[in-house]
Amino acid sequence: MASVTFQPFGTTVAIADGESLFDAGRRAGVPIPTACVGKATCGLCRVKILVGEAALTPMNSDEKRHLGNTYFISKLRLSCQARAAVGAGDATIEVALPDAMRRK
Ligand code: FES
Repeated sequence: MASVTFQPFGTTVAIADGESLFDAGRRAGVPIPTACVGKATCGLCRVKILVGEAALTPMNSDEKRHLGNTYFISKLRLSCQARAAVGAGDATIEVALPDAMRRK
């Protein structure tokens, strides 16, 4: 089992093969914005991949619909769709918080 670290919170949690970043984060109490609770319809659960993109499943069509084809620049994924790849290593991601949730 690999682990994922959620910034800016500094929370690290074990993640099972095939588990989504969204589910791992919520299990650890990380406040990932959402309206659809993991159904890939709201687009609010965006995270930036800082380390370990090879540890995640490839982008799917729902992510491309919300985020376009700019991953190579933005490094943004939908946390409810990005899953830990089988046998992959650790990852570090940054939760894209709305301005109202950012520390001043
Ligand atoms: S939680 Fe809504 S798109 Fe991911």
